[in-house]
Amino acid sequence: MLHIDSAPSTPGKVKMEKSSYFFTRGGGARWHYSLAKLTVWSFAFLALILIFFLRSPAPSTITSAADPSRRSLRNYNWAAGFVGTHVSSALKRRGDGVLGIDNFNDYYDPSLKRARQALLERTGVFIVEGDINDEALLRKLFEVVPFTHVMHLAAQAGVRYAMENPGSYVHSNIAGFVNLLEVCKSVNPQPAIVWASSSSVYGLNTKVPFSEKDRTDQPASLYAATKKAGEEIAHTYNHIYGLSLTGLRFFTVYGPWGRPDMAYFFFTKDILKGKQIAIFEAANHGTVARDFTYIDDIVKGCLGALDTAEKSTGSGGKKRGPAQLRVFNLGNTSPVPVSELVSILERLLKVKAKRNIMKLPRNGDVQYTHANISYAQRELGYKPTTDLQSGLKKFVRWYLNYYSDGKKAVE
Ligand SMILES: NC(=O)c1ccc[n+]([C@@H]2O[C@H](COP(=O)([O-])OP(=O)(O)OC[C@H]3O[C@@H](n4cnc5c(N)ncnc54)[C@H](O)[C@@H]3O)[C@@H](O)[C@H]2O)c1
Ligand SMILES: *[C@@H]1O[C@H](CO)[C@@H](O)[C@H](O)[C@H]1NC(C)=O
Repeated sequence: MLHIDSAPSTPGKVKMEKSSYFFTRGGGARWHYSLAKLTVWSFAFLALILIFFLRSPAPSTITSAADPSRRSLRNYNWAAGFVGTHVSSALKRRGDGVLGIDNFNDYYDPSLKRARQALLERTGVFIVEGDINDEALLRKLFEVVPFTHVMHLAAQAGVRYAMENPGSYVHSNIAGFVNLLEVCKSVNPQPAIVWASSSSVYGLNTKVPFSEKDRTDQPASLYAATKKAGEEIAHTYNHIYGLSLTGLRFFTVYGPWGRPDMAYFFFTKDILKGKQIAIFEAANHGTVARDFTYIDDIVKGCLGALDTAEKSTGSGGKKRGPAQLRVFNLGNTSPVPVSELVSILERLLKVKAKRNIMKLPRNGDVQYTHANISYAQRELGYKPTTDLQSGLKKFVRWYLNYYSDGKKAVE
């Protein structure tokens, strides 16, 4: 069975102080978070990737079939994607309406996506199966519910897979994003959009910690290039159509219900199987390190971004005034060498890893990531609180539970 006790341990605590957010971007408006937000009920449309959330001015009109049982539900819910599942769960828990959309592609084990979906649906978060490139579908959804917010987390992730299937990156991260923005710009009211960029946009940048003002014109992978393109596309739609857009550069997110294609996940699997694991090192035995960020911290950053997002300013497909445009790093500010990650996993799993030290291939991975989060701290109240050891402990507990009953055995 699924163990929801491995759910983010603090969904109820995700609420941040809402009384004092204001921003200086997007026209310099100072925006006070008002009570209106709390009284109005919101309906979020969350996909595994897309969270469209809506706060309707007339709660009684929000009776979409998508959420008939919201009264009786609470608890944890996950959409199909790793981050989308946790974010939708947190939104639902605090009373927002959430609707998701995901195409359940098989880049990694779709049964994990289905398991997340099942948990989410049990708590009233419904996920529409569809592609963000499907314009008619997106329009239909907006016809049913005038979503106030879109949380766009759908993407082709992964750095090395881009050499195998470059088209999937263009399809989801560029064409899909443009299609979503086309729909958002033309509906009334236009929603505010928060979407996932990536720390990978820093590419070969060597100035650490990475700050939002650093150069991002040297991507080291096609994945990074499509995320960077997304940031430029966001600028365009903000500039021409008045869409409120916030990009979040996530730094190596990990935790329960995580992605099997990521190192902490397949290291766990391989260590348990007694299989050798490849640990990369840079030239001259240089350390490869990541600013691993625990999912609950990322969720808080996402909610902070949604809660401080100003309204889009356009209508009828036309801009009516300057709109907010932001980009934030969401990291942990504490890079950990991959070898240390493995040592922590060995202790938690009580199994010695078979380490195979290899040279970092030049196919997309960078040597080091380290986020400067002072901007997110200031504007979103973002403050990560989970160190790698504590976060991995929760991940391992979830992993052992999830894969313990032969049914879901990872082959
Ligand atoms: N997890 C990380 O460490 C990390 C780091 C940086 C950025 N990001 C970004 O954060 C976002 C969420 O990442 P995640 O880790 O949850 O990944 P994920 O792969 O678990 O979630 C993405 C979901 O999007 C869905 N999807 C992909 N293409 C789609 C399409 N065309 N239409 C509809 N659905 C589609 C997939 O089925 C998947 O469930 C992504 O944009 C990712 O690039 C993640
Ligand atoms: C972090 O970024 C801020 C700008 O947001 C900058 O003022 C500060 O100097 C940076 N800190 C470091 C250690 O680079």
